Amino acid sequence: MKVSVIGTGYVGLVTGATLADLGNQVVCLDILEEKIDMLNSGKSPIFEPGLEELIQKGIKTKNLIGSIEIEQHVRNSDITFICVGTPSDKDGNIDLSYIKSASSTIGRALRDKSGEHTVVVKSTVVPLTTEDVVMPNILKKSGWKRENLGIGMNPEFLREGSAINDAQNPDRIVIGYADEIAKKTLNHLYEPYKCTKLECIPRTAELIKYASNSFLAAKISFVNEIANMSNIWGIDFQEVAEGMGLDSRISAEFLRAGAGFGGSCFPKDVKALAAAAKNSNVESLMLKATLEVNDIQPKIIVKMAEERLGIIKGKKIAILGLAFKPDTDDVRESRSEIVIKELIEKGAEVTAHDPEGMPNFKEIIDVSMMPTHELATEKADCVIIMTEWNLYKNLDLRSLLQRMNGNVLIDGRRALNAKEAEKTGFDYKTIGLG
Ligand code: UDX
Repeated sequence: MKVSVIGTGYVGLVTGATLADLGNQVVCLDILEEKIDMLNSGKSPIFEPGLEELIQKGIKTKNLIGSIEIEQHVRNSDITFICVGTPSDKDGNIDLSYIKSASSTIGRALRDKSGEHTVVVKSTVVPLTTEDVVMPNILKKSGWKRENLGIGMNPEFLREGSAINDAQNPDRIVIGYADEIAKKTLNHLYEPYKCTKLECIPRTAELIKYASNSFLAAKISFVNEIANMSNIWGIDFQEVAEGMGLDSRISAEFLRAGAGFGGSCFPKDVKALAAAAKNSNVESLMLKATLEVNDIQPKIIVKMAEERLGIIKGKKIAILGLAFKPDTDDVRESRSEIVIKELIEKGAEVTAHDPEGMPNFKEIIDVSMMPTHELATEKADCVIIMTEWNLYKNLDLRSLLQRMNGNVLIDGRRALNAKEAEKTGFDYKTIGLG
């Protein structure tokens, strides 16, 4: 099929590259020329394992190209995916301005087209957006009759760091459709994938995405709350998680306690769903609690350091890990940001290291960053691990201790072996160890 994808962010690039790999003719579209130039030269504008290889393969087979000529390529395709960003405003409400402008552009592009065309929203949007915002906007700008336009909503469930594998081996594909054209087109496009395909109306697809992310975020906040109790009662939460995870209704996934969840999805999506519920006069106590627990976790990490160091002022504290999780350079809503801000406010001298996230983090806080973890931890009174990169999991603890001034080691992700850390001579503390 001829596919156009508007937005070359995370979702757009992975969608475009994987659909091209299935043999479709894909054009990735963006207004930012430098991103398109990168794409066309076979470089990935974002860090994601396997993506650059897939882009290069697509360019070589000519199944994938990038362009800034949005209207022309929308017109020449059978199906257009909207993959633009949906950020939060200051009250947590979803900001639909990119969605609105993408649908206006599609509407203008379709003015000179005859026949059928399908438009599918892949961006995460609150229920009713596809039906009440995207569809009317396209119809108004294009002057098209409703019966020629296919309108769909097809959320993604990609995890950063394993997005290609998630896209190529999905647990399920949600096909939200408002008409038979969209239903037929999406089923045809996803025919090669043999997983369960759930067909529903667009607003259901929109809520499936928010409910899935909010449920996973709530699961993390729930285990963090129980892990905080375990700490006080001398119980190892990892054993509790193991016991819980053996129940197939609970599952063993997403039971890792620690500094809380970050990233571009969970915090934003929980806030957007809570705000959308509030606007419709529905109370969302679970969503509120999910965010509140998540705000507490980084503060617990700082408190652990404070209890061990006496006072924070003047102490040299090294933060290992700035990305919101390992194997990504994404630092959005990273828990490290909260920990570092609080430590600086309390007068600590903070140094930091991350294998991939330092350039992005520099744009948020101008903290002293070191090219290696060895340099970051030199003469530190305390080291705090905030992201469970393999590099940190395999730290040579003996030489770390020798490099440091003090022996306080706080593990915000339970990345290390507690017994080994204590045996080496560290004053080691982590969430949920008891
Ligand atoms: C998430 C969803 O998993 C994905 O389906 C959706 O499309 C986008 O949002 P992502 O943000 O890439 O993906 O990362 P994920 O691996 O889900 O982790 C999110 C955050 O939760 C990270 O900060 C991670 O450290 C934290 N987390 C995850 C925990 O604290 N404990 C866990 O057990 C799992």
